Amino acid sequence: MTDLLLIGGATPEMLERLEAAFTVHRLEDAADPVSWLAEHGSKIHYVATNGHDGVKPNYIKAMPDLKLISCYGVGYDAIDTSLARAGGIMVTHTPNVLNAEVASTALMLMLACYRNLLADDAHVRSGDWETGGNAPLSRSADNQVVGIVGLGRIGLAIADKLAPFNATILYHARSQKMVPYQYCESLVDMAQAADVLVCITPGGEATSKLVNAEVINALGPKGTLINVSRGSVVDETAMIAALQEGRLGWAGLDVFEQEPKVPAALRQMANVVLLPHVGSATHETRAAMGNLTVDNLLQHLENGTVISPVPECGDM
Ligand code: NAP
Ligand code: 8YV
Repeated sequence: MTDLLLIGGATPEMLERLEAAFTVHRLEDAADPVSWLAEHGSKIHYVATNGHDGVKPNYIKAMPDLKLISCYGVGYDAIDTSLARAGGIMVTHTPNVLNAEVASTALMLMLACYRNLLADDAHVRSGDWETGGNAPLSRSADNQVVGIVGLGRIGLAIADKLAPFNATILYHARSQKMVPYQYCESLVDMAQAADVLVCITPGGEATSKLVNAEVINALGPKGTLINVSRGSVVDETAMIAALQEGRLGWAGLDVFEQEPKVPAALRQMANVVLLPHVGSATHETRAAMGNLTVDNLLQHLENGTVISPVPECGDM
């Protein structure tokens, strides 16, 4: 059977399907991954990985006959696609199957910030409701101006899910789309006009610290920042300072610069809601992502084609 290298974890269902078709090697079983690859890299034709682990450039170089990297996740900023492409290696990912789930996560964070979900839950659990009376009023999440940073597959799903909240949708992307929402070429201008900013661009160098101090200041003391994209998209230091100094009102965050490390300052704040990168993490959505990850591998093994290449490899 053809040799496949698994980098990071896989669900039992993915493993069962992979082991039926490939000889599966798990990189996490190797005491020293670099030495393992130096000895065995030449026999690896396929890699299954995920958005967090990706494939390090020196690992790609250590697998001269690699044909395909299949990523369990839509974001592939942890894979150097230029290096892969230059070596004739196809890269696939899992777009669309997680749009609705990640959009729900963005909405959940927005609602939790607006309606004081965490503080109100604590108010009941602590017994303060009984002894101290009613909790303070919160803010309505209806009729808000929401600026979506990155109106791609998931950004559009977020806009759809906001419709029952009667939101006015603005968006910022590299190019204007044929959509019934207002395009903002300037992210600062959009932040100025918005009550909420929702980040859902890819990570990587092109979007690094796209949401910087200027954007955060424009969003302002009554503004809410939601990030379900990548931690690198927001200047975390600037965001923390703004939250501490009252220049930014609230933040709902699923992603962080140094995951799984989350700055202590953020963990101590009452005006933030923090999630451990679970945007797509339901049984249903992860099953769909796992199936697409494996389907890409099996189809390539059978006839050399794939279902969902990353755009950089779309013409390979
Ligand atoms: P997509 O369809 O490719 O959409 C990306 C959007 O970002 C596009 O509108 C694109 O604009 C915009 N964009 C790209 N580079 C930009 C830049 N430099 N400045 C401004 N806008 C830029 O991607 P998707 O499927 O919606 O996924 C988006 C990202 O969400 C993924 O890459 C991943 O990082 C993240 N994600 C997170 C989770 C989670 O668990 N939290 C789960 C899934 C995905 P143009 O169309 O004009 O190019
Ligand atoms: C996953 C994600 O957490 O798809 C993405 O880009 O960030 C998430 O769906 C991750 O990729 C799973 O490894």
